[in-house]
Amino acid sequence: MKKYSDLSPSPRIIMTPGPVEVDPRVSRALSYPILGQFDPEFTAIMNETMEMLRELFRTSNRWAYPVDGTSRSGLEAVLTGLIEPGERVLVPIFGRFGYLLAEIAERCGAEVLAIETEWGTVFEPAEVVAAIDRLQPGLVAIVHGETSTGRMQPLAEIGRACRERDVLLVVDAVATIGGAPVETDAWMLDAVIGGTQKCLSVPSGMSPITYNDRVEARLLKRKRIEKGIRPEGYEDADPTSFIRSNYLDLTQLQDYWSPLRLNHHTEATAMLYGLREGLRLALEEGLDERFARHRLHERALTAGLEAMGLERYGDDASKMPIVTCIRIPDGIDGEAVRGQLLADFGIEIASSFGPLKGRIWRIGSMGYSCRKSNILLVLAALEAVLPLHGALIRTGNAIRAALGIYAEEATRRQA
Ligand SMILES: Cc1ncc(COP(=O)(O)O)c(C=O)c1O
Repeated sequence: MKKYSDLSPSPRIIMTPGPVEVDPRVSRALSYPILGQFDPEFTAIMNETMEMLRELFRTSNRWAYPVDGTSRSGLEAVLTGLIEPGERVLVPIFGRFGYLLAEIAERCGAEVLAIETEWGTVFEPAEVVAAIDRLQPGLVAIVHGETSTGRMQPLAEIGRACRERDVLLVVDAVATIGGAPVETDAWMLDAVIGGTQKCLSVPSGMSPITYNDRVEARLLKRKRIEKGIRPEGYEDADPTSFIRSNYLDLTQLQDYWSPLRLNHHTEATAMLYGLREGLRLALEEGLDERFARHRLHERALTAGLEAMGLERYGDDASKMPIVTCIRIPDGIDGEAVRGQLLADFGIEIASSFGPLKGRIWRIGSMGYSCRKSNILLVLAALEAVLPLHGALIRTGNAIRAALGIYAEEATRRQA
């Protein structure tokens, strides 16, 4: 019989826009003993996780819980629950993940009304509002932090406009949640989908979501009625337009996460331990402090890259504080550089998609990966490797520039 060796993944410094390094406290939580999913000890953990998620999403919504599956399971659950065939759905697209929203909406039978803006920029909120008035959608689906281009879309004005027009607003905050402000209630976002494997530093495999009463009312109308029996609360359900997914049926999932605990899937117990620990870490740090930490390391990283003379990609005003995109210098093989960073330094940075493939590198500074030693290591490695590939960069100043930012911050804190 073939012998398989013990798994021994190499330790890595992961500076991509996800997945990123997992906090050791999360790894420990993942290994705790399994509890049955209806064990009162476990249901208490479920309730606590919901409480913590409300804080993370900055919402008083009743519903805040994880969908089991990667982040797109959360996106698909919300969109499948809300979109009926023929629904007019506006998707403002400014990168690869906007196309994902449009594709999921199309699969749900929506009439997708896409508007696009140049990659590397975001929409002026007024452009989106004008498109809502022109195209009259019932729902708008938009990405907050577009990891493919490293841009972040302002949402407050779009949220207000949607609410005033009674249009539902669904937001992909997979990349930003826990790393940059996501103000579900203040920005009037109706449903928000987060990710675990980025700024929360939990492995991929769950998608925390939240949604408000407006969303719930729509979902309840689409509850599947079995054998003509309408349970209490489902008086408005239309038997012809029920949600077409079983696994991602939010009406069943919310019954499972409610005190009713109606059986649905078998909960991913270990993942929930990990998510709870990731949330505990974020809340212990304090969300505002956490956002400030991400900003600080971003400043150090960009100062170091600038000192090397590397050019940032995209419009600075809408830059995500947790993803930094740089243009691959002319004539340089971006994949060969990434390959050497990984092979010789154990550092992973990312390339990008579609029109940006081979043109930019993306450096993530998210969650547990977002720390001083990682920022300095990625700068030092780039400074060492780029000249070996023929890149004409300035050497010798990157670390000094980054350390200067940290020193400035230390002085500011002492003052
Ligand atoms: C902005 C954004 N949305 C959605 C996704 C999809 O998430 P997943 O790969 O966890 O399904 C990603 C993943 O990179 C992302 O960056």
